[in-house]
Amino acid sequence: MCGIVGYIGSVDAKEILLKGLEKLEYRGYDSAGIALRNEQGITVIKEKGRIADLRAAVDTAILASTGIGHTRWATHGVPNQTNAHPHQSASSRFTLVHNGVIENYSSLQKQYLQDVSMSSDTDTEVIVQLIETFVAGGMTTEVAFRHTLALLHGSYAIAMLDAEAANTIFVAKNRSPLLIGLGENFNVVASDAMAMLQVTDRYVELHDQEVVIVRQDTIDIMTLDGAKIARDPYVAELDMSDIEKGTYPHFMLKEIDEQPGVIRKIIQMYENEQGELSVDAAIVNACKEADRLYIIAAGTSYHAGLIGKHYFEKIAGIPVEVHISSEFGYNMPLLSEKPLFLFITQSGETADSRQVLVKMKALGHPTITLTNVPGSTLSREADHTLLLHAGPEIAVASTKAYTAQVAVLAIVADVVAQGRGKAVDFELKKELAIVANAIQTLVDSKEELAQIAHEFLAVSRNAFFIGRSLDFYVSLEGALKVKEISYIQAEGFAGGELKHGTIALIEQGTPVVALATQQAVSPNIRGNVKEVVARGAIPCILSMEGLEEEGDRFVLPRVHELLAPLVAVIPMQLISYYAALQKGCDVDKPRNLAKSVTVE
Ligand code: F6R
Repeated sequence: MCGIVGYIGSVDAKEILLKGLEKLEYRGYDSAGIALRNEQGITVIKEKGRIADLRAAVDTAILASTGIGHTRWATHGVPNQTNAHPHQSASSRFTLVHNGVIENYSSLQKQYLQDVSMSSDTDTEVIVQLIETFVAGGMTTEVAFRHTLALLHGSYAIAMLDAEAANTIFVAKNRSPLLIGLGENFNVVASDAMAMLQVTDRYVELHDQEVVIVRQDTIDIMTLDGAKIARDPYVAELDMSDIEKGTYPHFMLKEIDEQPGVIRKIIQMYENEQGELSVDAAIVNACKEADRLYIIAAGTSYHAGLIGKHYFEKIAGIPVEVHISSEFGYNMPLLSEKPLFLFITQSGETADSRQVLVKMKALGHPTITLTNVPGSTLSREADHTLLLHAGPEIAVASTKAYTAQVAVLAIVADVVAQGRGKAVDFELKKELAIVANAIQTLVDSKEELAQIAHEFLAVSRNAFFIGRSLDFYVSLEGALKVKEISYIQAEGFAGGELKHGTIALIEQGTPVVALATQQAVSPNIRGNVKEVVARGAIPCILSMEGLEEEGDRFVLPRVHELLAPLVAVIPMQLISYYAALQKGCDVDKPRNLAKSVTVE
């Protein structure tokens, strides 16, 4: 969601900025723009639509060695060229890009900008107009910048150019990600190291309410009061091949295919010297001391959390509640006496989850973040971090992060169970290795799964995904995948619940995808399938080897029943992928969606 890049150096900035924005495309956006600064002044180019449209609009003759760029995911004001960033102050002296949401923008506008005519509907424009107003009142740019930031309520990552300050980018961050990249004779600004990996792998992390004056050879980090801060850079452990599609047509397909490797990597990363599964002792202790675990997450991560609940309760014997983060913070249930909070977030930046983390920390409760992104906001702010080791996930639809989340949750539950002296009657490490092989078999069955997508989904307006127990949770994830990338109205349902109302929607030809991987409820889900078939549905049963029956459409390789979600989700991912492809949808960048949802 929204991305920022900036470059200040000695070579032409255009291509570096455009390439950087292309690397941020995965975050989701609906317009984009750049501002280029040279001796002639500042030139702003912005377009609604894709970076390709912006690229086409950029005058190749302009040469500038300083610039900022932005991809916008609309919050305040429709996606159009006017509301696209960069925004300029009334005199065009200041040019600014912003990620985040300024909650008090309209009161600031009323208080300070009565006489300024605004040219966009955005909250962002208020920031740049305020800076100009304060500079007109006698402040230097740096002081006006810090003074304005101190007035803002909300989240921001900002990069700003001043037409009268050559060789400077003014940068600030609060609750929205932003990094400074260091180079030889140049420096860069980026929401995500991936954007600028093309020119450097050395980055400096910024903390909330920090300001940076970025010049070609120096960076000065300071507080909003101007107090200097020293911070060492780190090397981003990313490889260009991690963030390129290679020979794949889509990142989503590449990431689906990476899942066997991700499971193997997780086993390796969570293994101690004795070859046993192991988790940071502080995390195991936190779990042992808690009387209840509260899992907080959104979307796909929430679906992984539901499976995590099953693991913690069944394997480790710890009671768990799973909550949608956007609900929890504003509608909090009665908490237990010794709660422990586990935030599941691929990106580590989800604003809905972060607002809960901030509130729980303020209440003094212990917190853990399970994330794919080391150094992300939720990772830094929680007491402990568990990493997914899945490698960058670029497609908007989450696939390998989900399987990684489920696998790590199983490992933590298993290690905590051992720590609590609870007998576990299977060897998780061995079972996970079997899962990795089973996933490989499934990702090698693409043709058959493409055929299922063609038969059941590609021509449908709607579809149902049903299951019971763990299969119900996988059905929720399957339906979400189908909705987000193929725009088919899909619902994930507990098999037994359909007849309590929703079965009214079943008509002649409605596709119903049913999962049967759990022995105890396999007869029940088959009963539910019969109920919908009697009303005209076309069933597609995916069963686990050993539970299969005649007429099942697809049989999943057998794995330990508790780990069945890790394999059952693969056909869901692949049939969603192929349905989207067959419908001509933009698989990696579905409409209206953002990868990293940094606004509430
Ligand atoms: C769906 C998807 C989203 C995310 C959700 C939370 O494929 O990716 O539902 O799971 O936006 O994001 P994270 O996990 O980054 O907190």
